[in-house]
Amino acid sequence: MSTPFDFKNKNVLVVGGTSGINRGIAETFAKAGARVAVVSRAQEKVDDTIQSLKACGTADARGFAADVREADAIKNGVAEIAAAWGKLDVVVSGAAGNFPALAMGMSPNGFRSVIEIDLLGTFHVMQAVYPHLQKPGASIINISAPQAEIPMAGQSHVCAAKAGVDMITRTLCLEWGAEGIRINSVIPGPIDNTEGMKRLAPNEKIRAAVTKSVPLQRMGSTDDIANACLFLASDFASYITGAVIPVDGGWAQGGAALVGAGLAEMLKATPK
Ligand code: NAP
Ligand code: COA
Repeated sequence: MSTPFDFKNKNVLVVGGTSGINRGIAETFAKAGARVAVVSRAQEKVDDTIQSLKACGTADARGFAADVREADAIKNGVAEIAAAWGKLDVVVSGAAGNFPALAMGMSPNGFRSVIEIDLLGTFHVMQAVYPHLQKPGASIINISAPQAEIPMAGQSHVCAAKAGVDMITRTLCLEWGAEGIRINSVIPGPIDNTEGMKRLAPNEKIRAAVTKSVPLQRMGSTDDIANACLFLASDFASYITGAVIPVDGGWAQGGAALVGAGLAEMLKATPK
């Protein structure tokens, strides 16, 4: 689908932008003419994404390898991007980790790893980008998950972390609104061909149940999420801030709650 949005001369940073949903977002902004930078832990994924952004027609592509759990690494990398390009117009923060595990089936370190990537990582990204945001005008989009609002068995770590991410969104809307910074969360539904769905719907039985549980009767695509992000980052969304927006085919209206039951059944049947 071609895009009606024009991001020429805009600087876009996508944290966790080297695979899946976030990479789709990065590529979509590249197609809309933006300069796009990506961050993730693996240098080879960063390099591969930069090549793909160039093929999408980006005005310029950059990136660096860093773990969102390392505040200084994120801060220094973001400062380098801003030194090269100037102020950031759009920041998408979506680095995350997930694995299915019942609360009694994970160690404190397992719980901590997801909290530190999703929640503390989001905080690190917010602090790192703030000095470099276009004020007024910047748009921040945090990539959340249905677990932020819907309890799912096998997901206590992700539920806790993503609920926190959305509260960061809502709090910073208050703290940064007067400077003309907008910040919103997007809650993707089940997105096909992604690492997240490979982990949460690892067999055909759960996959079919998930698809059936979406009111629109299909999984989403990475384009579905990227298009919502284009809108939220554009002037067409200039009065939208502090919102937590599901882009999920209606999944949050009931279907999503069923997934935890499927996961619990699977996890309880799996010997430790
Ligand atoms: P994915 O392909 O695994 O993407 C995760 C990205 O984050 C990768 O680029 C990964 O690259 C990076 N990353 C992971 N840990 C990191 C860390 N500690 N520091 C820096 N970067 C890190 O996953 P996805 O399924 O597309 O999910 C993307 C986002 O959408 C996540 O926020 C997820 O919670 C959300 N979401 C997904 C779904 C779904 O259906 N897939 C549904 C709802 C919400 P490296 O490995 O190189 O670090
Ligand atoms: N069940 C229970 N515990 C698990 C687990 C599982 N399936 N997978 C990992 N853990 C635990 C580990 O055992 C470890 O705890 P321990 O030290 O007490 O043994 C802890 O989680 C951290 O694991 P580790 O592999 O050292 O962490 P990491 O920082 O290298 O990786 C993860 C973080 C675990 C989230 C990893 O899956 C990851 O990097 N994910 C990114 C991609 C992703 O999840 N994409 C989907 C996004 S929705």
